[in-house]
Amino acid sequence: MDSASSSARTVAACVIGGIVLGASVVALHLGAGPAAPSLPPVEALRRRFRRRHRPVRVYMDGCFDMMHYGHCNALRQARALGDELVVGVVSDDEITANKGPPVTPLHERMKMVRAVKWVDDVIPDAPYAITEDFMNKLFNEYNIDYIIHGDDPCLLPDGTDAYALAKKAGRYKQIKRTEGVSTTDIVGRMLLCVRERPVSDNQSHSSLQRQFSHGHGQNIDDSGFGNGTKISHFLPTSRRIVQFSNGRGPGPDSRVVYIDGAFDLFHAGHVEILRLARGLGDFLLVGIHTDQTISSTRGPHRPIMNLHERSLSVLACRYVDEVIIGAPWHISKDMFVTCELGLSLGKLGPLIYIC
Ligand code: CTP
Repeated sequence: MDSASSSARTVAACVIGGIVLGASVVALHLGAGPAAPSLPPVEALRRRFRRRHRPVRVYMDGCFDMMHYGHCNALRQARALGDELVVGVVSDDEITANKGPPVTPLHERMKMVRAVKWVDDVIPDAPYAITEDFMNKLFNEYNIDYIIHGDDPCLLPDGTDAYALAKKAGRYKQIKRTEGVSTTDIVGRMLLCVRERPVSDNQSHSSLQRQFSHGHGQNIDDSGFGNGTKISHFLPTSRRIVQFSNGRGPGPDSRVVYIDGAFDLFHAGHVEILRLARGLGDFLLVGIHTDQTISSTRGPHRPIMNLHERSLSVLACRYVDEVIIGAPWHISKDMFVTCELGLSLGKLGPLIYIC
């Protein structure tokens, strides 16, 4: 083939290609595209763009009764599977019907879940099982992409899987359950802490202990009787602390607020004081007392949760910026100068101490 006819073919190919492309664009503008006959093409493209670029929204539900760091870790993992986490807090009636009455009422459980820093939105009175109606509501009204639960089986009283429909729809994801803690286990620890009891109470007391020591494979260690922290099965790792921490120090002009305490059995009252404390400045540092300090000030049976467990619960709270794990009872200027943050009263603005 000579070069003249080759270039003629190239020109022809370009012209034909241009005509085809032009016709496609005109057809698209006239709404003649076969893919979306009922929508103007620009709107269809816009919707497709929005769908592809909108945040991935994930949903996790639960009772979150006597909220503990296992729940917080579940929420942390769920949030990592998407961009926004919506949490359904199961109603008191639904918990009673499926597991027995909750220890903490819905409004307190809502407050605890809302305070977790990985939670973006909360739905009250969620059903215990994902029904078809509720699943459609999640998908259509809340724009949920995936429903998430821990890797422990969640069975209804009739033995069926509470997440069967979500799994069938291909919209279910699982996170790893945190070993070493459960609400049942905490109630068991509390019962073990009750020491000064009349003999007549002992029988019902030990039967309650047995009942509450069956949660999620936790065995009650008899040697721990009388000291809640000895029966913890939690093994703290530096990785877990890092996962929970914000990894940020205060800015140069920050007003640092310091509050210390036991923060045992982290509850709605703790959340409220931390919220108020954070409101007094720009950076909230929380000192968490050692187990020994708490035992010596509040009695040998306390704390129920050990230092690391208490630290994780406090760190998961959205109002907290940093914690001192094992803060001294007496605070001093030296303590802030030497603590890991390198906080110095001289360098920073006023430090507000709440007692
Ligand atoms: N979860 C977890 N690790 C734990 C406890 C709970 O990952 N140690 C997860 C559950 O798998 C669930 C979510 O936290 O996805 C909410 O749990 P919840 O409904 O409150 O009930 P339980 O699983 O029974 O937790 P607990 O026994 O502590 O009450």
